[in-house]
This record gives sequence, structure tokens and C-alpha cells, in this order.
Amino acid sequence: AWSTILVLCIAYLFGSVPAGVLVARAYGVDIRRVGSGNIGATNVLRALGWGPGVVVALFDVLKGGIAVVIARAVGIEGPLLGGVAVAAVVGHNYSVFLRFSGGKGVATSFGTLLFLDPALGLYTIPIGLVVMALTRYVSAGSMTGGVTALVLSLALGRPVWEVFTVGLLAALIFWTHRENLKRLQAGTERRLGERVALPS
Ligand code: G3P
Repeated sequence: AWSTILVLCIAYLFGSVPAGVLVARAYGVDIRRVGSGNIGATNVLRALGWGPGVVVALFDVLKGGIAVVIARAVGIEGPLLGGVAVAAVVGHNYSVFLRFSGGKGVATSFGTLLFLDPALGLYTIPIGLVVMALTRYVSAGSMTGGVTALVLSLALGRPVWEVFTVGLLAALIFWTHRENLKRLQAGTERRLGERVALPS
């Protein structure tokens, strides 16, 4: 039992590392005061451009992926591996380094999925990207990606623990996008590539 708690805590700590905050700070920007205020790659791109945005996306994907890879390397499989994925995403969304606030968990969820079930991760990405490209709303693509992964996990007959894990990750994505959902309805959501002015 203690080893289970330890493993989940380590995954949570991995997820907690706020790449967006750290990268933006290196540019002298408090990312939580710009654009959507989110710490994710979408908002870093909005504030600082593609280079920093891609760095943050990669970091947030990899921290989720690495948590799963390390857990597997020490022999964790099945439901506890699903728990590791969720713990990493919870760390990103409710970071211990940000007083339990944080991001929306899209990149980190994708990273865990990619290493939990590579085929599922790779099938999901083009669907999410097409919706992002067509609507130019990253949030719409993110939520579509969550639903797609869940539907695919069911359609491909994945084990119950995995379907449950993907379902939880998808539910978290909708929960963290509640402001985006309001903005999408109101027609005020920011489009992909729209830059924002930095506070002086
Ligand atoms: O990954 C988060 C994305 O779906 C939305 O980000 O900054 O537009 O709220 P943002």
C-alpha cells in the first residue's frame, strides 16, 4: 500500500512541474496574467510565439509520458498504471508548485496515453489536430481528442481499467475547459495563432 502511494505521489510531482510558467518566466512574462491565463502551450504560443509554445507542449507531453514509462519500468501494469497517468495529469492541473492551481491537462494526458497505449494515442492525435485546424480553436480540438480517445478505447475493446482511465482523463479535460466552453458558446474564444499583447 505504501509503495502504491509513493508511486502515485511521484507521478503527481512529475505532472506538477509547470513548464509553461517556467519557460514564460525565462522571457520575463507571468503567463497567468496573459491571454487565457492558462499555463499551457496554447497560451504560451499566444504570448511568446511558436518556439516557446512548442517547447512547453513537448515538456508537458513528456512529463506525462515519462511518468508512465518509469512506472512500467518498475513493473507497474494495469489499474495502478492508469492511476499513474491520472496522478500525473492531476499534478499538472493542480500543481503543488502553484498552490494547487495549474493547467488544463491536454498535453500531459496525451503524453500518458501515448505511452500507455501508443496506437490509441496515435489514432487520437489526427482527429484532435483536424478539429483544431478547421475550427482554429485549440480547446475544441482538445475536447474532441478526449472524446475520441474514450470512444476508441471502447471500440477497440481495451481492458476496463484502461477505458476507465481514458474516461477520467477525458472528464478532467471537459472540467478544466469549462471557461473555454462558455467562451465557445459566446463566440469569444481566442483562435489558434491569435497573439496577445503582453502587459508592460
Ligand atoms: O490545452 C489547453 C487548450 O485546450 C486551451 O488553452 O489557453 O485557450 O485556454 P487556452
